[in-house]
Amino acid sequence: MQEDKTDSNGISSLNSVYAKINGSKALGSESQNYPLTQPKLSAPTIMANNVQSLGLNQIKRHIFLCADQTKPKCCSKQASLESWNYLKRRLKELKLDKKNSYGSSLIFRTKANCLRVCADGPIMVIYPDGVWYRQAKPSVIERIIQEHLIGNKVVEEYAITIHPLPETAHSVAKDLEKKNLSSG
Ligand code: FES
Repeated sequence: MQEDKTDSNGISSLNSVYAKINGSKALGSESQNYPLTQPKLSAPTIMANNVQSLGLNQIKRHIFLCADQTKPKCCSKQASLESWNYLKRRLKELKLDKKNSYGSSLIFRTKANCLRVCADGPIMVIYPDGVWYRQAKPSVIERIIQEHLIGNKVVEEYAITIHPLPETAHSVAKDLEKKNLSSG
């Protein structure tokens, strides 16, 4: 089989592959050019797709973890990243990052640069419960996942404070939801 001729960017090779998949001639051969990229989607389409694929309208809890800080204060950057990677991996393994059949999902996670507590970290907060945790290293995160996220019981040993979001926030959100539904 003949090798594709490839320039320094590998462009010819990509074109050949594209052409083979489509049963056509490669870019640069006599007659036809083929686009290498998908047609551009509009911003509203991209947003709508992402809202759908991320399940933003089904989120039950949102976790913020202080990680990958610009100025690491509550713990080292490396320790924070270990925690972040552990959290991501375990949520995925347990399918808690997706809507599931046993009703405890969907849990969203966000890496925060600094949650302003800046001691005894990594610091983590879970909303809407409003539970702030200290020392959120992997072993503690595992307990938080099992006991809090799945068992609905705060891991008191590591909780700094508990402050669920005020009722007013819920009623504002409900009003907005009603307005959106009636106008849509
Ligand atoms: S650096 Fe972690 S909370 Fe500020």
